[in-house]
Amino acid sequence: MIYSKIAGTGGYTPNNVVTNYDLAKKVETDHDWIVQRTGIHSRCLATAGETTSSMSFEAASKAINAAGIQATDLDLIILATTTPDKILPTASCMLQEKLGVPNIPAFDLGAACAGFIYAISVADQFIRAGNAKNILVVGAEHMSSIVDWSDRTTCVLFGDGAGAVVLQASDSPGILSTHLHADGRHGDKLFVPTGLPNLAIADEPAYVNMRGQEVFKFAVKALGDIVDETLDANNMDKSDIDWLIPHQANLRIITATAKKLDMSMEKVILTVDKHANTSAASIPLALDEGVRDGRIKRGDKLLMEGIGGGFAWGSALVIF
Ligand code: UT7
Repeated sequence: MIYSKIAGTGGYTPNNVVTNYDLAKKVETDHDWIVQRTGIHSRCLATAGETTSSMSFEAASKAINAAGIQATDLDLIILATTTPDKILPTASCMLQEKLGVPNIPAFDLGAACAGFIYAISVADQFIRAGNAKNILVVGAEHMSSIVDWSDRTTCVLFGDGAGAVVLQASDSPGILSTHLHADGRHGDKLFVPTGLPNLAIADEPAYVNMRGQEVFKFAVKALGDIVDETLDANNMDKSDIDWLIPHQANLRIITATAKKLDMSMEKVILTVDKHANTSAASIPLALDEGVRDGRIKRGDKLLMEGIGGGFAWGSALVIF
């Protein structure tokens, strides 16, 4: 049997750290409100010239290096993003060009904050089917480019960055299962109003709009349910999970999921305090941090989960 193993991880966040205090000089907000409601203390924002593909390149290079392979060993690139550099070419093709590996397939995948989970699920199918041996999976976002910096209800929430993994074919178990869901009836709760048909005539700016409380409530319920679904599918108990690596949107949502797992917060990889919500990048960035600081070890069982616009949500249970 062929499995997909995480052979290496990488992450990148811009050097430009913006604190809550910095934002309070621009919009009517304050550090304590942001920390109490979200757990966010600061975020990293792209500087001039930094884009989704350039941040992806930094994260991907580290993941490839950690996997002990060359970029030329890759068979496929999947880049999960909602904020590609351009409409065309895709950010994944721009990344492929930067990595200098022409001819391998590369595509973008859009599932908002669940994008990385969707992307490793797709990559896992390629590997299990014997169609690829080394796949670069990236989650990367330039959220600051679609945030209204005068809207305090959204601008304090987001950050920029990229996280990457190399998934590799292996004889021993890696990804045990992935679980994907979507419900387009909630498209009015978290959205950017402009799109391809009306870009040229847009009278609404392309900024994130969110009905925060409704997203919050749905997220807590959906993520609680998907924890049960994932454990049941693998005949596992809550106590079998070594690390929870959640999407980093709000500390209160993460705490609710940890509670559902009867898990101490010490077993949760948290980056929301310093990264804020980096959408598709948040899970691989957290994974990379846990791996590089030595908390996550080979053989540990990881539960990753995330939800975002769509709504789209998903989970992955992985032996590292
Ligand atoms: O990644 C995709 C998934 N996204 C999420 O999971 C986000 C889910 N939602 C949330 O995390 C929370 O709903 C928010 C953090 C967005 C908001 O927290 P909340 O506890 O739901 O606050 P709220 O929207 O109910 O606002 C409470 C009050 C309001 O004032 P009034 O109407 O009670 O007078 C807001 O105007 O807080 C006010 N407020 C702020 N005050 C200071 C909203 N934003 C701010 C702000 N600073 N930045």
